[in-house]
Amino acid sequence: MARVLVIGSINMDLVVNAARFPGPGETVLGQSFSTFPGGKGANQAVAAKRLGADVTMIGCVGDDAFGTQLTEQLANEGIDTRFVRRVPGVSTGVATITLSGAENSIVVVPGANHALTEAQLDAAEAAFADADVVLCQLEIPLAIVDVVARKAAAHGKPFLLNPAPAVVLSDELLDRVTLMTPNEHELALVYAGDCGDWQATLRSRPQRILMTHGAEGAWFADADGQLRHQPAFPVEAVDTTGAGDTFNGAIAAFWGLPMAEIARLACAAGALSVTRSGAQSGMPTRAQLESFLFERS
Ligand code: RIB
Repeated sequence: MARVLVIGSINMDLVVNAARFPGPGETVLGQSFSTFPGGKGANQAVAAKRLGADVTMIGCVGDDAFGTQLTEQLANEGIDTRFVRRVPGVSTGVATITLSGAENSIVVVPGANHALTEAQLDAAEAAFADADVVLCQLEIPLAIVDVVARKAAAHGKPFLLNPAPAVVLSDELLDRVTLMTPNEHELALVYAGDCGDWQATLRSRPQRILMTHGAEGAWFADADGQLRHQPAFPVEAVDTTGAGDTFNGAIAAFWGLPMAEIARLACAAGALSVTRSGAQSGMPTRAQLESFLFERS
């Protein structure tokens, strides 16, 4: 299994359940409130670790109770947290999540996640050297994502980018990405809404974009530019928060396998993750993933 270096966000998810989403200016009564560990970076780190990867995390938390709790939880998962920095005077990132059925709407306040600095990455140079694969998302400053991409290249390591939440990305950054994992909407945003049809974009970057497509599963173009499709695994969804993160953590964990196999394993892991509440609660272990796939073979 791969040695995975994750650079990304660490959030506390504040989750309410409601019969429906409120409209602008409207108040609705909710049914329950829970807190769950989250953040796209931390979620992807946990997903990769549960699937058997060696995982090191670089990120920031605030000097508050959430920061302590989230760092301890990552360490309890077996993730190397030496490079998680506690930033004085800043609050830990939070995500307020409203769940209605299995759908969610999320507002993220980055807090300490935006205190991640180039100096912190410099101090973790050894982690880049040790990694087989480097995995990043966009809940940290874009300038830092650029530095991560350059460091991964300098160390000759594959750089995986989950472009979420999506913003327009420079050609220089896109050229440094070994594999990007957008959904269809994110793919358009990344290319400034100017990428034509998604099939053509995938074909123009063979094996370099693995696109999720909701209930349809995932798509990529193989080395010959032929589009390949991995169907989704149907499951009873309880909470879809973190499904994309599980998909990405799995890609990193299984890096080195053929792309079609990576897509199959990542789709299966993502499907399993939605069967429980909370971003990380349903993330499968390697054994759970294998038995899920065995039952469906
Ligand atoms: O991808 C899901 C995650 O997005 C949540 O855990 C939340 O923290 C937001 O970062």
